[in-house]
Amino acid sequence: MCRPRLADALLLLALAAVTTTAAAAAVAKAPAAPPPPPPNVTAEMAKGGCKAFADLIAASPDAASTYQSAVEGGMTVFCPSNDAVKAFLPRYKNLTADEKAELLLFHAVPVHYSLGSLKSNNGPMNTLATDGAAKNYNFTLQNQGDVVTIKTAASAGAPARVKSTALDKDPLAIYVIDAVVQPVELFKPAPAPTPAPAPAPAADAPKAAGKAARHPAPAVADAPGPDADDSAPVDQKKDAKKSAAAGRAPCVRWWLAAALAAVAAASALA
Ligand SMILES: *[C@@H]1O[C@H](CO)[C@@H](O)[C@H](O)[C@H]1NC(C)=O
Ligand SMILES: *[C@@H]1O[C@H](CO)[C@@H](O)[C@H](O)[C@H]1NC(C)=O
Ligand SMILES: *[C@@H]1O[C@H](CO)[C@@H](O)[C@H](O)[C@H]1NC(C)=O
Repeated sequence: MCRPRLADALLLLALAAVTTTAAAAAVAKAPAAPPPPPPNVTAEMAKGGCKAFADLIAASPDAASTYQSAVEGGMTVFCPSNDAVKAFLPRYKNLTADEKAELLLFHAVPVHYSLGSLKSNNGPMNTLATDGAAKNYNFTLQNQGDVVTIKTAASAGAPARVKSTALDKDPLAIYVIDAVVQPVELFKPAPAPTPAPAPAPAADAPKAAGKAARHPAPAVADAPGPDADDSAPVDQKKDAKKSAAAGRAPCVRWWLAAALAAVAAASALA
């Protein structure tokens, strides 16, 4: 529940209090050792042989912020090799900005899997693109002999294979795969020579609404910050993101005011 007027008043009050006590608080606080920074996902991918894919992520603010904020909770990235990305680019360019972000987020799962645990896993996996309850944007991991493969109904005939390990260091693992994996949400299952689908407004409307809800345009709520929710599971973060999108400005002010008031009170007592 958000009350902008009350929040505004509190914010002013808190700011005034903070101004007078900030100096004292700064002196009183012992400098805490900063925690090690989380690995830079796109930089690690580029180093590991996926520069083209890392560049696509860097060019999509929504994907980039979600990747970077998910890494601390544990993440495994399946990054298509430079050749695979190059071959896929014509189709990639055909996607909308939202669809591009979905495709990029589809290539990571919010769990750190060592190669060993990957090899002992088979079955559907949710990805960073999965919308919690909907369980959409999943792919199927399958171990065939010594080869780890990933497929969807849209790429059943040609599953992507894990070629090499670019990085495996808790909380992040990056495996290079030999093809872009295609979610069924964006690509039709393989054999469809004559598509010619007339756009059906009735069917498209809810889908568009769902996308808008999942990817609110501004990245305000996504910016990796010193929040306490960094260790929360990704699904929860997505939910938080959604609630933030629902009533962003007033809610943000409210929480900011509450936090500032707490800081002011604490430092006044100190
Ligand atoms: C990660 O590294 C790239 C350059 O390699 C840089 O452009 C980007 O800002 C870095 N991202 C973060 C979150 O530090
Ligand atoms: C891109 O989209 C257009 C229009 O839907 C289609 O005709 C074309 O084949 C698509 N190109 C690729 C590479 O998928
Ligand atoms: C995977 O995604 C498909 C397509 O959205 C969905 O129909 C299916 O129920 C999902 N499977 C699982 C196991 O979540």
